[in-house]
Amino acid sequence: MGFDATALRAEFPLLARGGLHYLDSGATSQLPQAVLDAVMAFETTSRANVLRSVHRLAEAATEAYEGARSDVARYLNVASDEIVFTSGTTAAINVVARSFGDMLQPGDEVVVSQIEHHANFVPWQMLRDRRGIVLKALPLTADGRLDLAALGRVVTPRCKLIALTHASNVTGAVTDVASVVSAARAVGAKVLLDGAQRVPHGPLDLAALGVDFYAFSGHKMFAPTGIGVLWARKALLEAMPPLLGGGEMIRTVTLERTIWADVPHKFEAGTPPIAQAVGLGAAVRWLSALDWPAVSAHEMRLTQRLLDGIGQIGGARIVGPAGLQGRIPVVSFDLEGAHPHDICQILDGFDVALRGGHHCAQPLMDYLGLAGTTRASLALYNNDADIDALLKGLDSAAAKLR
Ligand SMILES: Cc1ncc(COP(=O)(O)O)c(C=O)c1O
Repeated sequence: MGFDATALRAEFPLLARGGLHYLDSGATSQLPQAVLDAVMAFETTSRANVLRSVHRLAEAATEAYEGARSDVARYLNVASDEIVFTSGTTAAINVVARSFGDMLQPGDEVVVSQIEHHANFVPWQMLRDRRGIVLKALPLTADGRLDLAALGRVVTPRCKLIALTHASNVTGAVTDVASVVSAARAVGAKVLLDGAQRVPHGPLDLAALGVDFYAFSGHKMFAPTGIGVLWARKALLEAMPPLLGGGEMIRTVTLERTIWADVPHKFEAGTPPIAQAVGLGAAVRWLSALDWPAVSAHEMRLTQRLLDGIGQIGGARIVGPAGLQGRIPVVSFDLEGAHPHDICQILDGFDVALRGGHHCAQPLMDYLGLAGTTRASLALYNNDADIDALLKGLDSAAAKLR
């Protein structure tokens, strides 16, 4: 099938304008024309509420919304009635922490890690304070990976859930899911993965991964903001109590009691983000049509150039894995004596968009002994000119700030 990096970048109107080296896709990615067109087509031909009225427009809206659910399910190789639309990763993890979490008993254990985004950390601390569970954190290795050798010590028979990032938003390290799943299975615990940073880098086979919950956001995978996904095994969704009550999540309501709707609708109270879901459906269809071995090779070639280039800059140090093995194209670095915000400001003068700070991962920054890092997060639309501009700007920042 092949992969034409120039043609693909041209599909993104914001980037096609030129003058911007966008290396902050880990925060939010840009939208391809196919997604913009799908949202516009929905809003101009099929806009109506879903799962309610029986007129033709409403049926078209429901079909578009449920079609998006099926598209997402195909991207993950799961059943579509296991896809719950949420507003994003944060909302999806909070659903699990509230709903599955409320089924836990005081003294039950949840294992997270020190590398987690706050979205996969704070909800579990809140659950600890609400339910009296024990919250444990897996330690890290020196190069910013999860210390999986510690699983045997940290995961006990009281463990009910291991909730980890699939790929770090700071170091780019990808989690070795197989060892986590086997440690969980040994004690009958469930596994949740925060897939926010993994999903823009190719389709997944969740059935083969063997996890129980998977959470991600549309806006990091070329879809609109305000839409995300919680995937969970159907039996789990069926056992879990709903979080929000209201319209759409019911089968019948009487003065005395309410019978919930079937999953996934039990978890989708109220009018959902319909156009956003349609946009997410278009994004995963667009992504699924790409030649992934070629796209991944392109992303990794640029990542290697970036790692090599940063290594040449005096005082700069990669934070996280030094090589390409088991990583996504997210690269954090520290420039001795320079604050990440100052680096980002100087780089903005070179039309390079980076992110500097704690990246919503303060426990990780504590471990690293840093106030923050500077991060370049690449996506499939980046090119050599983006890397050249970043390295040129960084040279200048190093000369000014060190
Ligand atoms: C690993 C990870 N998890 C969770 C989130 C939270 O995503 P959202 O703000 O879309 O809910 C992010 C966003 O940066 C992330 O990188």
